[in-house]
Amino acid sequence: MRMLEVESLNVRYGVVRAVLDADLHVEDGELVVVVGANGAGKSSLLRAIAGLNKHRGRITFRERDISGARAEQRVRRGLSLVPEGRHIFGRMTVLENLQVASWGAPGSFASESGRVFEMFPRLLERRHQTAATLSGGEQQMLALSRALIRRPRLLMLDEPSMGLAPKVVAQMFEIIKEINEAGTSVLLIEQNARMALSIANRGYLMETATLSGGGDARAMLEDERLHEAYFGRNSDAAGGD
Ligand SMILES: Nc1ncnc2c1ncn2[C@@H]1O[C@H](COP(=O)(O)OP(=O)(O)OP(=O)(O)O)[C@@H](O)[C@H]1O
Ligand SMILES: [Mg+2]
Repeated sequence: MRMLEVESLNVRYGVVRAVLDADLHVEDGELVVVVGANGAGKSSLLRAIAGLNKHRGRITFRERDISGARAEQRVRRGLSLVPEGRHIFGRMTVLENLQVASWGAPGSFASESGRVFEMFPRLLERRHQTAATLSGGEQQMLALSRALIRRPRLLMLDEPSMGLAPKVVAQMFEIIKEINEAGTSVLLIEQNARMALSIANRGYLMETATLSGGGDARAMLEDERLHEAYFGRNSDAAGGD
């Protein structure tokens, strides 16, 4: 089954065209990454798929046209977004953040939160701590947990590595890979292109509102042009110059 299909998606803010005729798909079980520079339109693309901004074009999710559906209807159908900048409730505790996120979801909170805490033991230790006092990495884990507690079919992540130390970034990618291997389809946006592509099945490139590619992630890692633009020099494990 095709998990997600996006056809001719357009997003504009007044005269600014943030996404231009984008086509993208995610198969069931896939981990797909979109890489691209600041301001390319990556967040606008994800937010449109989540139903958080005005857009034109067709979005099909789990074989249903959701183009006109509201954001909360998309969430209920199994589409979750972990937005850029985390969006957790700073004054609430870890536990309260998870409770709010699980409202209306099937399953008991006790068992669903237990499942999430098993994945993130650090959050269990800190369950009574207010979210604002967590470290950056812990906050990102909480943001991810808030999405996972609803057992999404497709998890969309907007730059989960932003602001994290290199070691924590590596852990974050490891966790994303594990979530995917356990059966959740993933659409990941990242500026950390090399690391993201190394765990992905397929990759797209976004440049000034235009999406291209969609091929094998390994092949993208070896693409000379992408090397110049996005991977930096002398820092590769994937071959290159
Ligand atoms: N609410 C808005 N109103 C007007 N312009 C916006 C709005 N949101 C985004 N833009 C513009 O749309 C373009 C794409 O922004 P977007 O946030 O989608 O890029 P991005 O690829 O996610 O960038 P970054 O890597 O910096 O997060 C930018 O030029 C941005 O200034
Ligand atoms: Mg962004």
